[in-house]
Amino acid sequence: MLKNAKDKDKRKLHVATGNKHKFMELREILSRFGINVEWLKSKIIEIQADDLETIASFSARVAANEYGVPVIVEDAGLFIEELKGFPGPYSSYVFKTIGNEGILKLLKGVKNRRAYFKSVIAYCEPGNNPITFDGYVYGVISEEIRGSHGFGYDPIFCPEEGDGRTFGEMILHEKNKLSHRARAAEKFARWFLGIK
Ligand code: IMP
Repeated sequence: MLKNAKDKDKRKLHVATGNKHKFMELREILSRFGINVEWLKSKIIEIQADDLETIASFSARVAANEYGVPVIVEDAGLFIEELKGFPGPYSSYVFKTIGNEGILKLLKGVKNRRAYFKSVIAYCEPGNNPITFDGYVYGVISEEIRGSHGFGYDPIFCPEEGDGRTFGEMILHEKNKLSHRARAAEKFARWFLGIK
């Protein structure tokens, strides 16, 4: 599909993130489309804002301009229905402070445990405006912490299309069949390669 070597080079992208799990998930999904990614490990600048698109776009623009290469930045959040979407764009701070135990405490005795993850991928080339792609996965917050795979809120999130296991009980390949990040990455890959 890609006609020449120059086109092939265009497939080489940098994923700017300090999170190794995110990088590995994105690498696996994008490789299915023949897109090779390199890890730009350096700490990215992350602003606080009310929506993930703004956060990811800002970081992608800064990283692309600083390193002079096309960059992907992904930002995600967990939105819990009973808590009116909390922690949402504040997921990182909430995870660092109260963590999974804190979320389970907030939901103690609560029947409605519906929640979703949202992922936003921002792609930016140096000097250009970022473009964003989103992905969602719906599910419930488990009653207890289960599993040691993945990261963050994975051990308390059961995707509704799954078999009752939390993301924390799934290996990377299984999480990637259902995850918000995989869905955003697929949208990006199709756009990037011009596939419908
Ligand atoms: P960020 O995208 O790195 O800002 O993530 C915000 C917070 O949500 C962090 O605490 C992450 O650990 C958590 N998080 C992001 N994506 C996922 C995921 O795929 N599974 C579980 N937790 C996640």
